[in-house]
Amino acid sequence: MKIAVLPGDGIGTEIVAEATKVLKALDLKFEMESALVGGAAYEAHGHPLPESTLNLAKNADAVLFGAVGDWKYDKLDRPLRPEQAILGLRKNLGLFANFRPAICYEQLVGASSLKPELIAGLDILIIRELTGDIYFGQPRGRRVATDGHFPSAEEAFDTMRYSKPEIERIARVAFEAARKRGKKVTSVDKANVLETFQFWKDVVTEVHKDYPDVELEHMYVDNAAMQLVKKPKAFDVIVTGNMFGDILSDEASMLTGSIGMLPSASLNSKNQGLYEPSHGSAPDIAGKGVANPLATILSAAMMLRFSLNQEEAARRIEAAVQKVLAQGLRTPDIYSEGTTKVGTAQMGDAVVKALAA
Ligand code: NAI
Ligand code: MG
Repeated sequence: MKIAVLPGDGIGTEIVAEATKVLKALDLKFEMESALVGGAAYEAHGHPLPESTLNLAKNADAVLFGAVGDWKYDKLDRPLRPEQAILGLRKNLGLFANFRPAICYEQLVGASSLKPELIAGLDILIIRELTGDIYFGQPRGRRVATDGHFPSAEEAFDTMRYSKPEIERIARVAFEAARKRGKKVTSVDKANVLETFQFWKDVVTEVHKDYPDVELEHMYVDNAAMQLVKKPKAFDVIVTGNMFGDILSDEASMLTGSIGMLPSASLNSKNQGLYEPSHGSAPDIAGKGVANPLATILSAAMMLRFSLNQEEAARRIEAAVQKVLAQGLRTPDIYSEGTTKVGTAQMGDAVVKALAA
């Protein structure tokens, strides 16, 4: 089992150190090799995703990723910015399915801005398509208009676009995932207005014929945004396009309290994957030893489950995380009165200890 470890920038190095600590405590045989990525790689090699880092990732079964980015790189040309490393990895590894579970741990119910009864026991999975949609559709650009409400005015345009195979493969991923969980898929679209998403709806409906044991519902994205805060537990698996998924997954992440708790996985068709916390490099708290490492530790658990075929080890990590929360240990982002405030490394050590017990 080969794991490429790419800590990146800011809190990336601190939280990935805790996740590798936890992996090493598992008595499984991993080959772990680290490389620079993002701003750290730019400083050392002049590029956020050097060839050597990309090759390490390509030849691994899975990539454990921290985070990249810092305000100090904002003035760089776009191709040299740290965030380009993520896009480059997604593209080169063919990562098309982004999994973002939103689970509300019993001990953290109070950390959510929603009423406890709405989110206690929440366990939903958002699956976002990563390679298509308006983020990549051509043509795009700026020009002087020749029609529309303001002919001859300056304008900008993007193209929303999905091909049938792209929709089919993400729909299959969603139905397969639902089979192992609550057996329900909500496909989120805007079929009432957009041809791309009428097509999306038609293709998902067709793929559904192969999964009669899974319930399929269709929902418009505006309604889905409402239902996520009104009755989030009514969802099981949500599948949607790149842009709607970007927005809804951030909305869902807030149901559970802190972004410091939320793992993610991005998979290709060979189950090779990139695993990272849902948050960024948090430059405001970097180097202070206070970042919550649990999102990264839970991402490592997803890596064991999806790419390394180690379901039992994945569950052991998830149980250990629940245990440290039950012990009342909290990094500052999830701290509340009556609990014990700990730093990044202490939290990692506590998870290791809970694994052993
Ligand atoms: P962010 O997620 O880094 O931080 C948002 C807020 O959440 C900050 O107040 C931060 O302190 C807090 N936070 C994040 N992770 C935390 C953790 N583990 N424990 C405790 N608190 C945590 O998002 P922001 O500030 O918008 O972006 C910062 C940098 O990260 C930017 O350069 C951005 O481009 C980059 N970024 C990178 C991502 C990636 O590597 N996949 C994803 C999102 C942002
Ligand atoms: Mg986002």
